[in-house]
Amino acid sequence: MSPVPGDGAPAIEIRGLSKVYGSSETAVRAIDGIDLQIGRGEMVAIMGPSGSGKSTLLHLLGALETPTSGSIALAGRRFEGLDDRELTLLRREGIGFVFQFFNLLPSLTAEENVLLPALIAGRRDDAIAARARELLERVGLGGRASHLPAELSGGEQQRVSIARALLMEPELVLADEPTGNLDSRSEAQVLELLAELNRTEGHTIVMVTHDLDAAAVAGRVVFMRDGRIESDGLARGLLDWLRRLREELPLP
Ligand SMILES: Nc1ncnc2c1ncn2[C@@H]1O[C@H](COP(=O)(O)OP(=O)(O)O)[C@@H](O)[C@H]1O
Ligand SMILES: [Mg+2]
Repeated sequence: MSPVPGDGAPAIEIRGLSKVYGSSETAVRAIDGIDLQIGRGEMVAIMGPSGSGKSTLLHLLGALETPTSGSIALAGRRFEGLDDRELTLLRREGIGFVFQFFNLLPSLTAEENVLLPALIAGRRDDAIAARARELLERVGLGGRASHLPAELSGGEQQRVSIARALLMEPELVLADEPTGNLDSRSEAQVLELLAELNRTEGHTIVMVTHDLDAAAVAGRVVFMRDGRIESDGLARGLLDWLRRLREELPLP
C-alpha cells in the first residue's frame, strides 16, 4: 500500500467511532463512541465480554463495515470518502486478516493458499512466488508447501493463514480470536509466532482474544464493555479482566 499521506502518522487513528445496528427502539450501539490511537509496530489485544463490540471494531478497522459516525485512518489515510475500488485495494493490500477458523481453501495447497491474495490481485510473478515460499519458511512450514489444509494440523493451518495475511506486506494485521480453535500447544506456537513477527519485523497487530495468555504476549490490552473502551493498558486491562473472572466464577 502506498505510504501517502504521512509517514509520521500512527498506524491507526480512530475518532468518535460509532456503529449502530438497526433503528429506533431495537437499535444496538455495537460501538458507542470510541477514540483510539495505535502506533506503528504495536501489538494490541482487544478483550471484553461477549457482545461488547470486539468483532465489530475489528470489522470497522478492516473496512469490512462502514461506521455510523466517526472516522478511522490507517497510516494517515482516512477510510471515509474512499470509493469501492479504493476500499477493495485497501483491504487487499493494506490489511492482512487472520480468522479463528483459518479460512483456507481446501482444494489449494499451503503455498497456493499463501499466494491467493496475489492471484486475486492479478499478480503471478516470480517475486511474489518467492515471497510466498519465504513466508512459509518464516512460519516454520517450508517442508509443507504442497500439503493440502486437510493434511495439516490446526496450528499449521493457522500458520499458513498468517503467512497469507503477510503476503502483500500489509500496514496492519487483524486477528479475530486466532487461537480460539487451537489446542494449547498450537496456541502457544501461534502466539509466539505473532509476537515474534511483531517484534522482529515491526508488524502492527490488533488481535481480539478471550485468552489471558494471548493478551499477555501483546504489549497493550484494550478492554471493551458495551461498545466502549473501559480500560487501555496492559496492567489495568489484565487486572480488570482477572477481577471480573473472580466476580463471575464462584471461586472459594
Ligand atoms: N450484523 C449485526 N446486526 C445486528 N446486531 C449486530 C450485528 N453484529 C453485531 N451485532 C450486535 O452488536 C453487539 C456487539 O457484537 P460483536 O461486535 O460481535 O461483539 P463481540 O465480538 O465482542 O462478542 C452485540 O450486541 C451484537 O448482537
Ligand atoms: Mg466476536
